Amino acid sequence: MSKVCKLLGIKHPIIQGGMARVSEAGLAAAVSNGGGLGVIGAGAMSADHLREEIRKARSLTDKPFGVNLIANSHSSHLSKRVDVVLTEKPAAVTLGAIDRVDIISSFKEAGIRVLTVVSTVAMAKRCVQYGADAIIAEGTEAGGHIGTTTTMVLIPLLYDALYPVDVDVEYAPLIAAGGIATGHQMAAALMLGAEGVQIGTRFVCATECNVHPAVKEKFIKARDRATVVTGKVPIRSIKNRLTDNYAEISAGIADGKIDPGELESFESGKLELAMQDGNVREGYLMAGQCVALIHKEQRAAEIIKEIIDRCKGQIGYIDSRVNNH
Ligand SMILES: Cc1cc2nc3c(=O)[nH]c(=O)nc-3n(C[C@H](O)[C@H](O)[C@H](O)COP(=O)(O)O)c2cc1C
Repeated sequence: MSKVCKLLGIKHPIIQGGMARVSEAGLAAAVSNGGGLGVIGAGAMSADHLREEIRKARSLTDKPFGVNLIANSHSSHLSKRVDVVLTEKPAAVTLGAIDRVDIISSFKEAGIRVLTVVSTVAMAKRCVQYGADAIIAEGTEAGGHIGTTTTMVLIPLLYDALYPVDVDVEYAPLIAAGGIATGHQMAAALMLGAEGVQIGTRFVCATECNVHPAVKEKFIKARDRATVVTGKVPIRSIKNRLTDNYAEISAGIADGKIDPGELESFESGKLELAMQDGNVREGYLMAGQCVALIHKEQRAAEIIKEIIDRCKGQIGYIDSRVNNH
């Protein structure tokens, strides 16, 4: 049995990326019912809202699901969200933008699996040291806040840095994230040393995802050069008027013509503006490069089945490419 499936009690090693303002109970439950691990994105939720969403997910599925927290020292109200997770006890937490490695142990003591999202070797090693059950390695192709190394390079780097030579030693498996939307990409990630994948962008176009329909339309129409990276803490999103204005403001700051404080107020509330209000010109349309590979809205279970079927098929195909049978 797949190590990731065993760890989380799921059928397929596909984790739905936690996405603030995007992945609510309905999507998380649908992914879990489809055999993956659905994840409620709690990044922007109040403690009460998070509790409600966890209880709602529980009413929609009897399968394991998780909660994503932004586990960062700048994250406001983190301790209140942590308390909710510790009392409601979902099967797992995924910790994004992590620097608060100290909170890993409290979840483990409560019997909650801990998966940490990292984009560097140093942070991956720290998370393992602090007891993370699995490492989600996120490449720069991903949507949302990103690091600088590609998934193609990050996975083998972490594989070499983290994996024991002795196979009997317990280790935290690697889960690849960033740029994965299809089964052949999942097969590639497994070839590189990952034991599962985390997918965000493609699940935004799941039928059960509650974002505004204009967002799904933008995702489905996006082509290969659709995304850009903006921000001091880099964010990948679909190019629109917001990202153009962002570039202008940044240039103004560099010239000393605009106060740096303006950038913070300019960014505030912009994810909600896109994802919930449907303002696809002036809101943050966070999306990964693989948005270009999405062609239609589908139910979450259908997305998972399509990815797993193609992943399995692709593994046989690789054999035929390297051997002259
Ligand atoms: C719209 C959007 C919002 C996201 N919000 C979060 C978040 O709140 N917390 C987090 O850890 N990661 C967040 N991510 C990253 C995803 O969880 C996931 O790691 C990433 O989407 C994987 O790469 P992909 O977009 O290429 O599938 C977000 C991604 C997207 C597209």
